[in-house]
Amino acid sequence: MTATQIDVLQRVGSQATSTLTRKSKPKVDTLAPEDCGVIAAESSRAIAARGVGMVYQSSGERFQALKGVDLDVKRGDIQLLMGPSGSGKTTLLSILAGILTPTQGNVRLLGEDITRLSSSKLAQFRLQNIGFIFQGFNLFPALTALENIEVALKLKGIRGSIARKEAYGLLEQVGLADKAKQHPQDLSGGQKQRVAIARALAGNPQLIMADEPTAALDSHNGHAVIELLRNLAKEKGRTVLIVTHDPRIIDVADNVAYLEDGMLQAN
Ligand SMILES: Nc1ncnc2c1ncn2[C@@H]1O[C@H](COP(=O)(O)OP(=O)(O)OP(=O)(O)O)[C@@H](O)[C@H]1O
Ligand SMILES: [Mg+2]
Repeated sequence: MTATQIDVLQRVGSQATSTLTRKSKPKVDTLAPEDCGVIAAESSRAIAARGVGMVYQSSGERFQALKGVDLDVKRGDIQLLMGPSGSGKTTLLSILAGILTPTQGNVRLLGEDITRLSSSKLAQFRLQNIGFIFQGFNLFPALTALENIEVALKLKGIRGSIARKEAYGLLEQVGLADKAKQHPQDLSGGQKQRVAIARALAGNPQLIMADEPTAALDSHNGHAVIELLRNLAKEKGRTVLIVTHDPRIIDVADNVAYLEDGMLQAN
């Protein structure tokens, strides 16, 4: 087996290897050309959702919010999820981020089937690989902009002066180094959103997921945030998944998936 093949197998991880094993049980040193195709497809995909369904149960009522969603997102792409209110966008995003467990189907992120992970392994996976940007910013009001980012770094095991330096670096990346000591209430909506993005980038996750990141922003701040997200994908190679109603983001997207009544529409 060549060094390149070893590298591809390591990046794809155990999931692709088990796909190969189920398919034809080849020895790794005798990979058939079609198996190399399987590996290449797996390694180029950051997100692969298959048959994802979600049934909510509340006060004895069942509601099927997602009905067999299949979605593939390539590494380095900006993927939008759009659709009317109540169509299931936040539900799908939360499942793809490992925050909610689907009642049907499975989700592979970076080759790992997250729907099969134990809750502690899933928490670890999310910490290492996913930066999540919440619609309402979700910043801690009692902490400064810098401390909001340091907290996220601490969770990832980065502490002390290294965390402080890295947090400053992240604030610089979003153009807010001069606001490090401000508390969220002293920041504009756009600045809060940029701190939230900087926090989502703590620890260098490969996947960035955002729920309506520009919804609360005026045109100027909205553009700044869109440019940041575009830069993350196109300059830094991150995979960016965005739930949005904002038509301005369509211009920078590689793909747009439309959800309606819990189902993806062909686009
Ligand atoms: N915890 C829950 N229990 C019961 N039903 C829920 C729950 N969460 C969401 N739903 C329902 O599932 C459907 C999809 O909700 P979801 O929040 O995913 O929609 P959305 O597309 O994000 O909408 P919006 O654009 O308004 O944010 C809605 O009909 C909603 O009422
Ligand atoms: Mg929503």
